[in-house]
Amino acid sequence: MGRPTTPWPCLMPEPDILVLDDPAREVADFIAGILSAAAGQKGVASFVLAGGGTPLALYRSLASPLYRQAVPWGKVHFFWGDERLVPPDDPGSNFAAAGNAFLEPLSIPPGNIHRIEGGFPPYEAAADYAARLSAWAAEYDPGAPNPWPRFDLVLLGLGEDGHTASLFPGSPVMVDSPVMAVTADYQGRPAGRVTLTPPVFNDARAVYFMVSGANKAEAVYQTLYSDDSVRFPAQRIRPADGQVTWLLDRAAAAALDAY
Ligand code: 6PG
Repeated sequence: MGRPTTPWPCLMPEPDILVLDDPAREVADFIAGILSAAAGQKGVASFVLAGGGTPLALYRSLASPLYRQAVPWGKVHFFWGDERLVPPDDPGSNFAAAGNAFLEPLSIPPGNIHRIEGGFPPYEAAADYAARLSAWAAEYDPGAPNPWPRFDLVLLGLGEDGHTASLFPGSPVMVDSPVMAVTADYQGRPAGRVTLTPPVFNDARAVYFMVSGANKAEAVYQTLYSDDSVRFPAQRIRPADGQVTWLLDRAAAAALDAY
């Protein structure tokens, strides 16, 4: 199967694809630039965090002295692309993982942290988060076209099966609500989840997919070059007025040249 000339057969604008030698540091540079620019232009920046293990080294980089001074962190507001339905102090909580890795070390003001209430029942947690997004947009992003923010940056991972956030293969493609509760069986991780949906992601100004490891190489290739948004939900994330960038280590990019 030859490599198609352009990724995302029916997507414009095309995503950027960067293969990085030191993702934790290089992506931290990119993120610091986006957040600093947004905060400088608007007085506030909005950053949607990814869960899972891939971004943890990046989060720790952002808490290092180099970036501590590089970004006006007090003007950055933090959200999550998805959360497991576990208490906020549970080891499986994406909120807890990010808090430990950089939100606490950076002393981010509590009012800037907008977590999904993982301890709530599923539909209540989803409704609560949708209400938080609407209220935040009304206060900080009044020009947003929908009752949720136009996020300055969304960071996403990719599962071996092609899922992103908690949008899993075979999940409904046509979704209108900004937040939904789902159940998933992935690598023994908590099954109950709440996730943002493509309508929210597709209003973002910038989307970064950060993917590392040889175990993700096939999912990266299929997501970028097949035309099957049912099996590869990351294809549903195609902002009309925002740039998608794939930030890969060499192992995750290996299949891109193998075909
Ligand atoms: C989660 C994440 C999920 C993650 C992928 C990749 O809640 O688990 O949001 O979408 O990004 O499963 O996870 P790893 O980075 O651990 O491989």
